[in-house]
Amino acid sequence: MAAQNHRLSRRALSIQPSATLAVDARAKALAAAGRAIVNFGVGEPDFRTPPAASEAGLEAIREGFTRYTPTAGIGPLREAICEKLSRDNGLDYSPDQIVVSTGAKQSLYNAFQVLCEVGDEVLIPSPYWVTYPEQVRLAGGVPVCVETDESRGYRLDPEALEAAVTPRTRLLVVNSPNNPTGAVYPREDVEAVAEFVLRHDLYLISDEIYERLVYHGAVHVSPAALSPEVKRRTVVVNGASKAYAMTGWRVGYAAAELPVARAMADLQGHVTSNASSVGQKALLGALRGDAAAVEAMVVEFQARRDYMVRRLQEMPGLTVPEPAGAFYVFPSLPGLYGRELAGKLIRDGGDLAMVLLEEAGVAVVPGAAFGRPDAVRLSYATSMDDIERGLDRMEEVLRKGLG
Ligand SMILES: Cc1ncc(COP(=O)(O)O)c(C=O)c1O
Repeated sequence: MAAQNHRLSRRALSIQPSATLAVDARAKALAAAGRAIVNFGVGEPDFRTPPAASEAGLEAIREGFTRYTPTAGIGPLREAICEKLSRDNGLDYSPDQIVVSTGAKQSLYNAFQVLCEVGDEVLIPSPYWVTYPEQVRLAGGVPVCVETDESRGYRLDPEALEAAVTPRTRLLVVNSPNNPTGAVYPREDVEAVAEFVLRHDLYLISDEIYERLVYHGAVHVSPAALSPEVKRRTVVVNGASKAYAMTGWRVGYAAAELPVARAMADLQGHVTSNASSVGQKALLGALRGDAAAVEAMVVEFQARRDYMVRRLQEMPGLTVPEPAGAFYVFPSLPGLYGRELAGKLIRDGGDLAMVLLEEAGVAVVPGAAFGRPDAVRLSYATSMDDIERGLDRMEEVLRKGLG
């Protein structure tokens, strides 16, 4: 009723608020009220932005580099991104194929807007990052979820992909390393994706934002590197947020065939214009800087991952696949269904999240936010002390309830 009074558009009314942010907000509100909360809900590295990036940002401010830039980004940054894509991913792009945006989130938004026709179906492997279905709907498209299975470590299922294709299918979105599951698609899966995309004449959006965060020898394979035909049909999305702990700087980028890149830049020119000039300089500093800061972060994440996975696997009621990348663990809770914890009946991950927050002061994200109500997501982008404390409290609640 209230919304009708304000005559909000149907489009606005169709948007689901971000569930990850909602849990974060609730945990912060409890913390502000004096509760000691361990927050496993966050989706950002807890590290400082590396000095090479921060110093470049400061220098940009000092020298007055604070005006509009070309919409698609400053030349030196687009060149540095091309060098990075070539060096790390085996991808050959020219600077005019790169569009720098206000975070990878905007790169994805641009891509859906320019590639998705009203009524087009977009295949999204599930569990998925919350934003994909919303952005697809905002582009007039129809999100079609394709289930992946925890028993296979949430790898893509070629048969499920095949079964989801219709004459309206236009796009496939892949995200490896994956949020929320931490799955990293092995080369054979990426090859299967590439073959699938070509056979059905689809476009591919490859969200590679967690690329640097892979553990124990897991290797990130960029689908566009498999062949020129695949590259022609792919938009590669990446950014500064996760690799360089630069979430607040808001810089991301996309690489695509020239007509697609131009369309994305034209669109962006009427939405936000260029990404922040200071943020662009900071990303340039990060790309040109010493890789040691990123490597140290990965070593620390791996130690936390190992600890968290082991502890969760020892807890009753949970099934915990081994994540090879990103900074999330995504346990499901088949052993908790229909049981009571702290007097509350557990019917899904939302119930478990509520019990953990209220009883243990531990914030996790209900799996429903990612299309998998029977799971919860825990982020280990928080200190080892917090991880130990949070898991101790969580284990206590589970053991008390399950005996
Ligand atoms: C899978 C995935 N893609 C893209 C993003 C967007 O990152 P940003 O807009 O900060 O570059 C996120 C952030 O959480 C993410 O998890």
